[in-house]
Formats: sequence, C-alpha cells, structure tokens
Amino acid sequence: MLLTRTIAETRAVIADARTQGKRIGFVPTMGYLHEGHLKLIDIAKGHSDFVVVSIFVNPTQFSPTEDFAKYPRDFERDRRLCESRGTDLIFAPEVSEIYPERSLITLQIEKLADRLCGMRRPGHFNGVLLVVSKLFNIVQPNVAVFGQKDAQQLTIIKRFVQDLNFPVRIIAAPTVRESDGLAMSSRNIYLSPEQRAQSTVLYQALQRAKTLIEAGQRDAQKIVLEMQQLIATASEAKIDYIEIVSVSDLQPVKRLDGERQVLIALAVYFGRARLIDNIVLKIS
Ligand code: PAJ
Repeated sequence: MLLTRTIAETRAVIADARTQGKRIGFVPTMGYLHEGHLKLIDIAKGHSDFVVVSIFVNPTQFSPTEDFAKYPRDFERDRRLCESRGTDLIFAPEVSEIYPERSLITLQIEKLADRLCGMRRPGHFNGVLLVVSKLFNIVQPNVAVFGQKDAQQLTIIKRFVQDLNFPVRIIAAPTVRESDGLAMSSRNIYLSPEQRAQSTVLYQALQRAKTLIEAGQRDAQKIVLEMQQLIATASEAKIDYIEIVSVSDLQPVKRLDGERQVLIALAVYFGRARLIDNIVLKIS
C-alpha cells in the first residue's frame, strides 16, 4: 500500500496505475475509520483495479462552532485498517496542501441543500462540494463510493457530478450498523456509556416508522410524531430534526401516497455528539 501527502505525488502514482490499464476507484473520508468506511473500500475494489482512499478532515465543511479541531484522528490505525482491506493508495494531505490559500470559488447548490442537514449547517455542503471537486480533480477516479448514511450528501454529490459533467460514476453503499442498530460513525466516540446505550432509540424510531407505513399509515406528520415520542424516552436525546422527504428532490412529503421512494431522516444530539441516520422506503 502506498501513501502520499502531496497532490503531485498522488497524480504521479495514479497516472502510473492508469497507464497499466487500471480503473481507479475512490473512497473519500475524513478518517477515524470504522467498518462503514471499510465496506466502501470493499465496494470500490469490486468496481475497480486500484483503490484510493483519501483521509482529510476538511475544514471548509465545518462551521466555526463545530467540531473541526476536536474531530477524532488516528492515522496509524486508519493506515492499518486500509491496508487490511487491500487499499492501494492512501492520500492524506495537510490542510495547506489542499487549501494553500482561501478558495475564491464557492460552489452552491440550490434546493437540495435547503432542508435536513443543509438547513441546520449553513455552508456545510458548499464545503463538501469544494473538497470533493478538488479531490475528484486530483484522483480522477472512474468510480467513487459514498455512503447512504449521509443521504443528503449522496443526493447532492450525484446531482453535482451530473450538473458539472464529472466523468465519474457514483456508487451508493448501504449504511453499516452496530449489532444493536446504531449507525456507525466516527462521532460515536463522543458518546458517554449512558448516551451510547440510549442512542439505539434512533434506529428503533426509524423501524417504528417503517412498521407504521407497512400497516398503512400515510400521514407523514403522524409518523414523525410517533418517532418524536419514542426518541423523547431517551433522556439525553435532543432532536435536531426528523423529516420525511422525497428521495429524488429531498422536498417534504405530507402524504405518502402513490408509487415513490421516501427518505426518513433524522439528526439528534446526544450531548455534543450530533448523530444522523435514515432509511429509504418504497411506498406502493
Ligand atoms: P466521513 O464522515 O468520513 O464519511 C466518508 C464516507 O463514509 C461517506 O461517504 C459516508 O457516507 C460513509 N459512511 C460513514 N459512515 C457510514 C456507515 N455507517 N455506513 C456506510 N457508509 C458510511 O462524509 C465525509 O466523510 C465527508 O463529507 C467527505 C465526503 C469525505 C468530504 O469531506
């Protein structure tokens, strides 16, 4: 496994792989890897011949009040985990390599960022798009894998690639969970043992929504209300949002009628950890 820190070295290594006829698969991450990230690597391997993992905590997607400085980092552990899954190259640049100066270009997305996390974290998705476009231009992957765990990010990236004609295929990877249902996240490390025990309520609330819909409930507000009541049984939980939106455009759905896919998404604080989770359901 190779490791690069600069854009020039990264381009050289990947150009070499490409001249050998290899297809490039890419998994962008912010490190502190867990099984969710590693599944993305497995999927990238299944669709390419040379897998690049980037590890970069991107400052432009954090607001000044968020956890950029405290975001967990453990490069040696990440390196071992990447190697164990057959990664070919880790690209782990310093902030100064990616942002030698403040970018004068801002990427803004209409509509898709107006709700859910985009509404609560202004500028967050601009930062994600800025770094992802830089990374795509450095790595020039044939395929890139993103997790369904960050459903709004995935939708935005797919649309971004389509609107700007990036020659990359975006592959969605299912959410990987702990055995009790909690979606894996680098931020789970922030949870106290008590909060960790209570956090299973998030997946239970999503499952409750699924059961209600399967039983014929079509009123989105009623479903959200039941989810709120269930989450409120966890004393440490503070709901940021629970929303039911259409998968294609992330716009709110009031009644779940007709053939369509809905995204049920939530963000809930447990202490300083802001956890997100979601499920996609097909209504028929
Ligand atoms: P990060 O939070 O490190 O996530 C990297 C990738 O792993 C994302 O595509 C995310 O959706 C996926 N992922 C995280 N937890 C997962 C889980 N439990 N199951 C499946 N996939 C999971 O998302 C980012 O970093 C950044 O915004 C980034 C795209 C790297 C840009 O900075």
